[in-house]
Amino acid sequence: MSVAQALWNSLQNEVQCSDVALARVEQAGGLSTLVCLLRTILGPAEDAFGQLLTDLLAGRRVVEVVERDDGCVFTGEPDWYLATFRSWWSQERRAMRFVRGRVLDLGCGAGRVGLHLQSRGHEVVGIDVSPLAVEIARQRGLADARLGTLDSSLRAGEHFDTILLLGNNLGLLAGERQGRHFLRKLARTATDRGRILAGSYDPYDGASELASGYHARNRARGRMGGVERLRVRYRQYATPWYDVLFASREEVARLVEGTGWVASRFVDDGAGYVAVLDLDAKLRRRLVESS
Ligand SMILES: C[S@@+](CC[C@H](N)C(=O)[O-])C[C@H]1O[C@@H](n2cnc3c(N)ncnc32)[C@H](O)[C@@H]1O
Repeated sequence: MSVAQALWNSLQNEVQCSDVALARVEQAGGLSTLVCLLRTILGPAEDAFGQLLTDLLAGRRVVEVVERDDGCVFTGEPDWYLATFRSWWSQERRAMRFVRGRVLDLGCGAGRVGLHLQSRGHEVVGIDVSPLAVEIARQRGLADARLGTLDSSLRAGEHFDTILLLGNNLGLLAGERQGRHFLRKLARTATDRGRILAGSYDPYDGASELASGYHARNRARGRMGGVERLRVRYRQYATPWYDVLFASREEVARLVEGTGWVASRFVDDGAGYVAVLDLDAKLRRRLVESS
């Protein structure tokens, strides 16, 4: 079993879920329908992700804790953030053949994927909101790792042939309305042969009773079933709460409609997949004509 698969299995392990917390959420009128995003660079007390990467690199035993807004806590071993190509999820390994040209690695973390593609000769720009993760990606050799968000980090006129949302970073779409908005923005960031590779898993495939309940509560509030409001915790550090989208393949195909992208294929491994999204022909024609 690969490191990544082990993490996946352990994240399935709902180690604690408090019925009390669930009741509290229901009594309080349910989950907030506001969209929560990581819109800015994480502050020193918020960089839980960077802190755990720092300890991991120092050889300490690290357990990542992800807290959900219904009181559930998930734990996992984060070694996969540093995994080399051979230990990646099989769908991510196989998806690498769809990478072309200049690459944007959005939410690059410690540079796991960007470093691999750089070693294969691609020009890669990594962007992340975690100061320590960006520092680590740079130290590990990612030549162009930038601290910030898509909005704050790109230079005028900068375009990419491939945009990566890997390591479950399809999650950055955050939900339906926000996701469509984000995809349109990515279409403007892409070259006329632009492509997105977005990793996720189908949250409904083999969902526990608990997970199905969470999906149902989301839907009752007009949200996509697989939007999870989470924060990452490590030692005394905690990220702000933010929405992470997990979606079925059918939901992804629907979500991209009208955003300039088409879902060309899914590279699968069980519930997990990498969606290959290509700029749609009409938009591509418009871009070519206007260039
Ligand atoms: C699960 S990790 C994946 C890291 C990397 N893509 C990988 O596969 O190894 C998610 C990363 O996305 C970053 N992130 C989350 N929201 C972001 C945003 N809005 N803009 C840029 N980075 C973001 C986090 O700081 C974290 O480093």
